[in-house]
Amino acid sequence: MNRDISAIRRDYQFKDLLEDESNLDPMAFFDTWLKDAIDACPNDPTAMVFSSVDQTGAPHSRIVLLKQRDEQGFSFFTNYDSDKGQDLANNNKACMNFFWSELSRQVRIEGEIVKVSRKASEDYFATRPQGSKLAASVSPQSHTIERDELHKRFHDLEQKTQEDTVPCPENWGGYILKANFIEFWQGRPSRLHDRLCYTLDSNGHWVRSRKAP
Ligand SMILES: Cc1cc2nc3c(=O)[nH]c(=O)nc-3n(C[C@H](O)[C@H](O)[C@H](O)COP(=O)(O)O)c2cc1C
Repeated sequence: MNRDISAIRRDYQFKDLLEDESNLDPMAFFDTWLKDAIDACPNDPTAMVFSSVDQTGAPHSRIVLLKQRDEQGFSFFTNYDSDKGQDLANNNKACMNFFWSELSRQVRIEGEIVKVSRKASEDYFATRPQGSKLAASVSPQSHTIERDELHKRFHDLEQKTQEDTVPCPENWGGYILKANFIEFWQGRPSRLHDRLCYTLDSNGHWVRSRKAP
């Protein structure tokens, strides 16, 4: 590459992240930051990097979309037979990373994965656009396939299917990350960033600490 990418940098500034202005409950604090992101980021404010670990201990990351945040944790939907699904069947430790560039903010969430109930997966699947339902039904996510073959499967199913009659595939559904660590990072000038970290203790209480940037 001819361009000197080492010179690409910016000074981060938006707001301070002070203990007094945060929340002792990191889940509620995440909701505040997610709302800020939805207001400030025009594209994919719910997108995050989701990382899992395979049987050899190698980590793998990809983008997925957060679809729910409730008392159970942080949920997204996918194909259970995908590479990530296979990683998670073997090792349920995983993490999520949100980066909201417009706000100079990052949130890291670590914890353990459980599956969403079948009913909740079916309920969410039913809300998806028809094209997304068809694609989820015909795509063997993460497996090798020719483009023509994938499109043929899609169009064949489309022709056979009435609107709103695509069932949720058995191998498709949601995962919930049950967090045990959450870090809120606010970019600040001169790289003096604010980092507030919350760790779940053995009594189920969140303990907050500040880490050096
Ligand atoms: C903006 C964006 C959103 C995405 N959302 C999802 C999602 O919610 N679920 C999903 O399974 N894949 C999603 N993907 C595709 C994944 O990044 C990935 O290609 C796919 O899940 C296969 O990953 P795996 O082979 O590691 O299992 C998204 C990709 C992008 C760029």
